[in-house]
Amino acid sequence: MYTLGIDIGGTKIAGAVCDENDTIVSQWRVPTPTEPEEINDCIVEIYEEATKLHPEIPYIGISAAGNVKADRRTMSFSANIAKWIDYPLADRIEELLQGRAKVVVENDANCAGWGEYILGAGKGSKNMVMLTVGTGLGGAIVINGELYRGSFGMAAELGHLPMVSDGDFCGCGLRGCAERYTSGSALENFARAGMRRMPQKATRLLELCGGDVNALEGKMVSQAAAEGDELALYAFGKIGEWLGRTMAAIAAVLDPDVFVIGGGVVSVGNILLDPARYNYQRFLQASAYREHAQILPATAGGDAGMIGAADLARKELSKEQA
Ligand code: BGC
Ligand code: NA
Ligand code: ZN
Repeated sequence: MYTLGIDIGGTKIAGAVCDENDTIVSQWRVPTPTEPEEINDCIVEIYEEATKLHPEIPYIGISAAGNVKADRRTMSFSANIAKWIDYPLADRIEELLQGRAKVVVENDANCAGWGEYILGAGKGSKNMVMLTVGTGLGGAIVINGELYRGSFGMAAELGHLPMVSDGDFCGCGLRGCAERYTSGSALENFARAGMRRMPQKATRLLELCGGDVNALEGKMVSQAAAEGDELALYAFGKIGEWLGRTMAAIAAVLDPDVFVIGGGVVSVGNILLDPARYNYQRFLQASAYREHAQILPATAGGDAGMIGAADLARKELSKEQA
């Protein structure tokens, strides 16, 4: 029996057919359209393609950025897809498929975190927290082998931990959220601010962004940092510091044994993880008198979300049927 895992990202929708051992047997990707109905059509199209190869796919797991209700069917709110407010995503897909498959929707970081827990860096951990450092900062919490979803489905929105009083405006409408200081966008912001303030140190970054500070992208900062560029390393030092602080706040609540750090920026490895580890210890309560969590880079890569979504859907829906 196969399950289709779908990952709705900001730029692409990716789909993977997974078997019962969470191995991907086929996959597809298409650019993400802007309208919810167009997104639904893309998902249906991927399902049609998938069932040409594997006629029996009774379950679909969808990974989506934003808040998912406790029913695992409805998007409450998303900063990425404006019209996903109280949006019955699972109902829509099931209607379009006329009952050929059942759908489970889960938060993107929860799916990626679950993927890392079942087959990536979090495997074997007791209590795991994942942070996905991308456009936003996503979070996932696994406690005693179970994904923790909270009372209303909203747990692990770790990117919106309120870190700074009256701080920067966040896409969620609040101010001072963790993701304003530690995310791919924060990396770009710290680098841009540094370029404006210290133009004498901006030569390499300016070269990479073609002289247009606004055109600077995270991957350019990563490249310059890997070359040892001072300003790029400064920007990573800043998001690393905030990442460490954020993890220390999370540890005060959850005391996990493993933190898994994912997202594109983690490709720089210790350039990000060293300042994160240093500041984690710095802000961790009773630091000298306790055991410390391991802070590990994600290993399941970009497929973790689809695999996690498929696995969660299969577990939930097969339980329902039993
Ligand atoms: C959203 C989360 C999401 C994360 C990563 C945050 O801004 O609130 O729901 O998991 O970004 O995409
Ligand atoms: Na989450
Ligand atoms: Zn926020």
